[in-house]
Amino acid sequence: MKTILTGLRVNSEFTLGNYLGALLPMVRLANKYKNDYNVNIFVPDLHSIISEVDGELQQNIIRSIKIYFAAGLVANENVHIYRQSYVPAHSELCWILNCTVPMGELSRMTQFKEKSDGKSSVNAGILNYPILMAADILLYDAEYVPVGEDQFQHLELARNIATRINHKFEKEIFVPPVETRKQVEFMGIENGIRIRDLVNPEKKMSKSARSENSKIMMSDDPAVAAKKIMSATTDSVGKIQYDMFNQPGVSNLLQIEALVNDVPLQDVISTWAGETRYGDLKQKVASSVRTMLEAFQERVAEIPDEIVIEYLEAGEEYANSIANAKLLEVQHVFNLR
Ligand code: TYM
Repeated sequence: MKTILTGLRVNSEFTLGNYLGALLPMVRLANKYKNDYNVNIFVPDLHSIISEVDGELQQNIIRSIKIYFAAGLVANENVHIYRQSYVPAHSELCWILNCTVPMGELSRMTQFKEKSDGKSSVNAGILNYPILMAADILLYDAEYVPVGEDQFQHLELARNIATRINHKFEKEIFVPPVETRKQVEFMGIENGIRIRDLVNPEKKMSKSARSENSKIMMSDDPAVAAKKIMSATTDSVGKIQYDMFNQPGVSNLLQIEALVNDVPLQDVISTWAGETRYGDLKQKVASSVRTMLEAFQERVAEIPDEIVIEYLEAGEEYANSIANAKLLEVQHVFNLR
């Protein structure tokens, strides 16, 4: 059976961007394909400590799993939920892959440039983390890796690493994840999703944005979240249309409206075509986000911790068995066994 795999860091809460861009598409895919694919959803906790050691990481991990269920995930025996650091093969394979990747390839990554820009010193984890990500994917032969647009470059890197190693040893050791164009097709969307910062819609919505109005957190009071939408930056064009390049603020609102209500973006665009009043659009999106958050937060509160722990333990047993077998195969070709 083929594998679909994704991970979301849980430093702090999820933003609406994580939720709409990655979590919800993953849940929809999982529900659609779980009888025909393995669906691996893991918590990249080793990725979390790259930026800082987070005193709330443990609570956030448990909460993040609840969020998958609150987002509608219906688990079955093919859905595997696990924590990265509970499967040591991730770190081990990461090291082996590290020894095959030129530094230049890592320092060219957009995220590395963004995260190290202007800093006098950055830790080596920031440079190397795309390799850990490649290990996360390649250990499980995951062909489909639903992620937001900002992770496409890392996905391509994982693909290159797999192809190169297979070529070098003339053996199909790894299954390279499919190219991003096909990932997007598989996810059933036209392009990668990038939810924008509400204050500066040129940028993606990010947990680390300084202004609270820039981002909606999934734990925000729904009324406060609605206010943030009402104060979102738009433009002076005066037409409601989807044009991410010239009107990123308005386009972002249209995109949020479509994703929150699970309707095609094209339908939302047609509904608003010819309209000019940004205030009306904001009212509608604010109300959609508010309704969604209210229902979502109620569902999160209903899920007991024990159920989450049970899923994690079962998932980790499964993940260790698959990952260790793959690691052993790799250790053999690298002459470590
Ligand atoms: P992370 O934790 O930064 O983000 C988790 C997921 O959310 C997506 N995302 C967004 N999508 C749309 N709009 C936004 N504004 C937005 N912000 C974030 C990201 O694209 C991602 O899909 N390295 C990864 C986690 C990871 C991983 C993996 C993912 C580690 N190993 C293996 C897949 C497979 C990361 O830091 O994502």
